[in-house]
Amino acid sequence: MIRIRKFKAGDAEPVAAIMFKAFKSFLGTRIKQEDFTAEYYRKTSNLKASHSETVSFVAHDGEKVVGYLKVAAGNNGLGSLESIGIAPEYFSKGIGSMLFAEADKFWQMKKMRKISTCVSAHNRKALIYYIKNGFIPEGYRRDHFFEGVDEIILGRFMKKA
Ligand SMILES: CC(C)(COP(=O)(O)OP(=O)(O)OC[C@H]1O[C@@H](n2cnc3c(N)ncnc32)[C@H](O)[C@@H]1OP(=O)(O)O)[C@@H](O)C(=O)NCCC(=O)NCCS
Repeated sequence: MIRIRKFKAGDAEPVAAIMFKAFKSFLGTRIKQEDFTAEYYRKTSNLKASHSETVSFVAHDGEKVVGYLKVAAGNNGLGSLESIGIAPEYFSKGIGSMLFAEADKFWQMKKMRKISTCVSAHNRKALIYYIKNGFIPEGYRRDHFFEGVDEIILGRFMKKA
């Protein structure tokens, strides 16, 4: 049974491995395993600054970590979905939706007005996932993170309680 909990430092190693595999599924050889370090996830998953807060969640199947989501909330009412990745063998089983529900609770609690994210234009599955979760396209960035890979900028207005 899949459950969701907050990220803890011990999750950094499996999360780095999952995120590499998840991103490789649509970026292929553009990314390298060594760019996905446990140290990065340990340092950036939970951050509290005066102007913003970042929190992360993991999905786990028993002891095994199978998904990761990082979100942020700013003091200006603007939130963001920083990154999400599911282990490819667990794609399309509802885990991304379970993680999104946690993100939504966090943004509601933080009284966010609007959420931003972006998605590679050829990443059809993720684009459908975001649209299903209330995001709409707001812009386009050509050759952004990688040459030959365009990004669609997405925004989602939070419903007023
Ligand atoms: C995109 C991603 C996070 C979605 O998570 P998931 O657990 O696979 O998705 P879910 O099973 O929760 O499905 C949620 C919705 O996404 C869409 N979706 C999921 N799998 C899909 C597929 N194979 N084809 C098209 N749409 C799909 C559907 O709208 C689905 O809703 P539905 O089940 O009611 O039809 C996951 O596939 C992933 O990690 N992909 C690789 C990493 C990535 O692309 N991250 C985002 C980068 S910006």
